[in-house]
Amino acid sequence: MLRSSDLFMTNPRHVTMTDTNSAPDYVKHQGLIKWVADIAAKTQPKDIVWCDGSQAEYDRLCADMVQAGTLIALNPAKRPNSFLARSAPDDVARVEDRTFICTDEAHEAGPTNNWIDPNEMRATLDGLFEGSMRGRTMYVIPFSMGPLGSPIAQIGVEISDSPYVVVNMRMMTRMGRAVYDVLGSDGQFVPCVHSVGAPLADGQADVAWPCNSTKYIVHFPKTREIWSYGSGYGGNALLGKKCFALRIASTMGRAEAKQGGQGWLAEHMLILGVQAPWGKKYHVAAAFPSACGKTNFAMLIPPDGLAQEGWKITTIGDDIAWIKPDAQGRLRAINPEAGYFGVAPGTNEKSNFNCMASLKENVIFTNVALTDDGDVWWEGMTKEPPTHCIDWRGNDWTPESASQGVKAAHPNARFTVSAVQNPVLDQAWDDPQGVQIDAFIFGGRRSSTVPLVTEARNWQEGVYMAATMGSETTAAAMGQQGVVRRDPFAMLPFCGYNMAEYFDHWLALGQRLAQSGAQLPKIFCVNWFRTDEQGRFVWPGFSENARVLKWMLARIEGKAGGQEHVLGVTPRFEDMDWQGLSFSVDMFETITAIDLQAWRDEFKLHDELFDKLAHGLPDHLVQIREQLQSRLSQTV
Ligand code: GTP
Ligand code: SPV
Ligand code: MN
Repeated sequence: MLRSSDLFMTNPRHVTMTDTNSAPDYVKHQGLIKWVADIAAKTQPKDIVWCDGSQAEYDRLCADMVQAGTLIALNPAKRPNSFLARSAPDDVARVEDRTFICTDEAHEAGPTNNWIDPNEMRATLDGLFEGSMRGRTMYVIPFSMGPLGSPIAQIGVEISDSPYVVVNMRMMTRMGRAVYDVLGSDGQFVPCVHSVGAPLADGQADVAWPCNSTKYIVHFPKTREIWSYGSGYGGNALLGKKCFALRIASTMGRAEAKQGGQGWLAEHMLILGVQAPWGKKYHVAAAFPSACGKTNFAMLIPPDGLAQEGWKITTIGDDIAWIKPDAQGRLRAINPEAGYFGVAPGTNEKSNFNCMASLKENVIFTNVALTDDGDVWWEGMTKEPPTHCIDWRGNDWTPESASQGVKAAHPNARFTVSAVQNPVLDQAWDDPQGVQIDAFIFGGRRSSTVPLVTEARNWQEGVYMAATMGSETTAAAMGQQGVVRRDPFAMLPFCGYNMAEYFDHWLALGQRLAQSGAQLPKIFCVNWFRTDEQGRFVWPGFSENARVLKWMLARIEGKAGGQEHVLGVTPRFEDMDWQGLSFSVDMFETITAIDLQAWRDEFKLHDELFDKLAHGLPDHLVQIREQLQSRLSQTV
């Protein structure tokens, strides 16, 4: 890598830059200061801003972005202090085929990740980042994933040439000056470098959403570095989220176990609290693939009858969980994030009241439609669409456009909002010790085959079911939508190491905890998405999912019945609470029936996954597959 001092000697423009942009005196970490200088030397920004995370800074950046056309200020009477961003039309989601895990050996990344030799990748990145920030401001963004100073939290510093990233990171993480106090003069941090890859020549006008058609989202697990080039959107650019809190953190949790510790888990999971009428509070972590219902489940309001009984759900997190055993061997979880970057389409007062309440003010919307009165709209927000609005591409839109297949909001349009705006935020959401997990739920989007809910007989079978989970792809990632693919643990695009080893990590952790005498959380699998012949969802979902949750917690207490089948235990109709919902036995049958032939076909897909992951696949998992398959073949 070029040394900053070398460059500064040959390029006087940058001498001025360092003079006017030296680190503030509260930054005491010489390693960090040198790294920032090195990146500046390489990327050659016009200036450097060390972000302090203040409201004033946020307001100033938003005002600048409104000036530049990156943000549109919404009508303050309708949506106070809120903005709309429209991305470039080809920069609208995560790019899984441009996401790389650069371990020394390919098998360490495993067959489900894109691997490139780290030396080769560094050479590529050197070329891409050389001068990539020319004409732009480089922001230094210090952030903590998890409560500041928590023993579970980790620090990152993102360098970015996107002010949109800065303001989003401020809501999504604990970002700002206080991070430097925790970091001190020699603390560890994960260095994250992000450039939209759109340098500006002298005098060249900028565009509203700069990006590059070449994109690289790169992870070096050994040195715990993240490099992201060419995209400004979501998980590609807000590097604390999927890149750090899942891909890098998953390798950290695994490494700790390899070094003889208990290890920990970094998961694509929501965390919620459930108050049961019998006076006990439970905590549940649930993994659903992208755009499959985590945010909705985490903020759910139980239907009237259940609410009156005393059921109440509170949110700890909606996307990511870091889970560690405590001294007693109980699993405790924190939400490393501090905000929600949630899917807008489909969200409304009925499907997610609490989410709509969170979005009343102080929101950044991305790729939703702009109404004529300066507010926002998206498909599914209201029954009646507006008679006119401006769509996410900036074009006029009317209901007539819908009939031509043009959407007002992009299907992966999102909102960014601070967790503190959630009216049902759990009081322990910020607790440095985290909350104790009583149950894990895994769910995919499957129009057939997978029943509404299944309780695994034990930890190992639960791990098997999570490992072999399938789900139809969604708009959260670029590529074909609606095709079933295996998405183990909803982590396929997010595991920073070999997925076979990841299964082993789950199995071994369970075994260690069981041996220490701890009670393991129960594991359940769900599917809200089974459809009828017309392709309509049969299960009403959303708040009605509380009925399934009630059955699960009653199972934990030994208070509910169920029917055992090949895969585990599923409730019979009479085992669930139906008060206030007309749902027939026939409909229940449609979403819980086990079609043995479909399951035999499903197991062939499990086999394909296991063949792919054969290198390092735990024997134990293979044995469980054999047991389940022989159960299946014995059932007629
Ligand atoms: P990421 O943020 O991408 O990780 O997604 P997520 O898992 O948080 O998904 P989210 O809760 O935002 O839901 C995505 C889409 O699924 C939205 O359009 C919802 O309306 C829809 N959805 C959520 N829950 C249900 C449900 O119970 N039934 C049905 N049919 N749709 C649901
Ligand atoms: C997901 O795709 O799972 C998200 C959105 O939560 S992103 O931040 O883009 O990863
Ligand atoms: Mn997600």
